[in-house]
Amino acid sequence: MRSTLIFATNNQHKVDEIRSVIGDEFNIITLKEAGIDIDIPEPHDSLEKNASEKSSVIHKLTNQNCFSEDTGLEVEALNGEPGVKSARYAGEGKNFQDNIDKLLKNLVGKTNYNARFRTVISLILNNKEYLFEGICDGKIIPDQKGNNGFGYDPVFIPNRSNKTFAEMKMEEKTIFSHRRKATDKLIQFLKNHGTH
Ligand code: IMP
Repeated sequence: MRSTLIFATNNQHKVDEIRSVIGDEFNIITLKEAGIDIDIPEPHDSLEKNASEKSSVIHKLTNQNCFSEDTGLEVEALNGEPGVKSARYAGEGKNFQDNIDKLLKNLVGKTNYNARFRTVISLILNNKEYLFEGICDGKIIPDQKGNNGFGYDPVFIPNRSNKTFAEMKMEEKTIFSHRRKATDKLIQFLKNHGTH
C-alpha cells in the first residue's frame, strides 16, 4: 500500500511541482483533499520556523504524517531579502507582480544581481520532525520574461540556464529547482526510514 502524507499547503503550484518528482510510491494529499480549510500562519523570522509551524499545525489537527515547505528568494545585494518575507514583500494583500515590482525597484543602481531560492521542508513522521533544505543559485534579471510558474519566476534565471523559470515548462524548472532538491532529500529519507 502507498504511504500517505498530507502536504500542508494551499499553493497548487507547489503541489504540482512536488507531485511531479515524488512519484507513485507516496500518496500526497493536499489540505483541500484532506478536508482542511485553513490559512496557516507564517509568523516567524526564518524559513525553518515557518515550515515547522505549518507542519505542526496540521499534525495537531490530523494526527497524521505530514510535511510542509517554506521558500524564500534571497538576494545578495539586498542582504538576503526578501527571504522569509517573500510572500508579503510588498505588504499584506499584495500580489506576485507587486512583489516583483518592489524587488526590481530595490535593485535599481545595484550591480550584483546574484540570488538564490531556498526551500525548507519540515516533515513530521511518526510524531518526530525532520528538516530538509534545497537551494537553487541564480540571478535576477531587470526585465521579466515568461508566463509560467508563479511568484518571482519571471525574474529569476537559475545558473547553467539562459531562461527564467517562467519561460520553462514545469518539468524543466524541476531540473534546477530548490523545491526539487529539498524533495529529493525528503524522498530519500522516506525510502530509507519507511513510513511505518
Ligand atoms: P511561501 O513558501 O508560500 O511562504 O512562499 C513565499 C513566496 O516565495 C511565494 O509567495 C512566492 O512569491 C515565492 N516563491 C516560493 N517558491 C517560488 C518558486 O518556486 N518560484 C518563484 N517564487 C517562489
